[in-house]
Amino acid sequence: MRKASILAIVVIGIFMLCGCGSVKDQPIKNIKIGISVYDQYDTFVSQMMSAFNAYAMQKQENTGITINVEIYNASGSQSTQNEQVESMIKEGCNVVCVNLVDRTDPTAVIDAAEKNNVPVIFFNRELVEEDLRRWNNLYYVGAEAFESGIMEGELAAEAFHEQEELDKNQDGIFQYVVLEGEVGHQDAIVRTEYSVNTIIQKGVSVEKLGYAIANWNRAQAQTKMNQMLEEYGGQIELVLANNDDMALGAIDALKAQNIPQSEWPAVVGIDGTDVGLEAVRNGEMIGTVYNDKEGQAAAMLELAYTLSTDGAVSSVDKLTGNTIRLPYIKVSAKEAGSFTPPGADGY
Ligand code: GAL
Repeated sequence: MRKASILAIVVIGIFMLCGCGSVKDQPIKNIKIGISVYDQYDTFVSQMMSAFNAYAMQKQENTGITINVEIYNASGSQSTQNEQVESMIKEGCNVVCVNLVDRTDPTAVIDAAEKNNVPVIFFNRELVEEDLRRWNNLYYVGAEAFESGIMEGELAAEAFHEQEELDKNQDGIFQYVVLEGEVGHQDAIVRTEYSVNTIIQKGVSVEKLGYAIANWNRAQAQTKMNQMLEEYGGQIELVLANNDDMALGAIDALKAQNIPQSEWPAVVGIDGTDVGLEAVRNGEMIGTVYNDKEGQAAAMLELAYTLSTDGAVSSVDKLTGNTIRLPYIKVSAKEAGSFTPPGADGY
């Protein structure tokens, strides 16, 4: 009896020794990537997540390493997101990707990650640089907001120069309204400022009639556009929307009020979502700015994969310091027909 148990202990000991040795030398067979998005119903973010899943499957096929991706919806609550990050870490995620609900409040996420030594890739909702420097395992993947503002302004100015009928009252001034994203979001503040400044720089005089906050959301934008149509009616010559969904919300309002398309203001957006590009192709929008969701998804996957495997991030393409930014692409009505998103090849 006694002999048997000693033998059992020895056997287990040998197994453990072998196990340790072989685990150490064995290549990694699977990794786990946890993601928390601020709102799963956001069109751009959800399309970016589909692209991320597709690239993860592709990477899995190419490398033979199983890539588990778990996506959580924070539903607009920072405290829910903090809890999700805690549980992703507990579940053994090798890396967590966080689309912050409140870009000014990443403390709980950073503290939990640092305590457990799990790298964090923030994406799309940019935290301030000081926060990004709080630990050397923090990264950001996104785009340069001002670039999209400049391109949106160029699209509006080009249309004004080329299409006389857009100046409805023929006063030589582009009367505009703005549909803005969330208060405090880098892409809302910066896009509005740069697009308006660019229109002016391109030699077009502008007059701001009004603005409304519609939180990136199509239905909210329709409501806000209805109110602005009541107030300014046919005076509106241009709708500058911080994203395509809000541009489409403005178009929904124009359609619901049975305003003939020939009397519509010029409508311009940003993102180049599937529906946004379709609206440019069918002439409802004068243009959009492509926010490279595939490039951003591919870059995030590459970084997450590298951090989860060998960790040599210096080999990750486009990483400057701890940030990856993908360029925007201007898509005018003329270009929309032949435009194809760059996809992972552009990465
Ligand atoms: C922006 C995008 C918006 C919205 C927002 C969410 O980059 O243009 O449509 O998705 O991010 O943070």
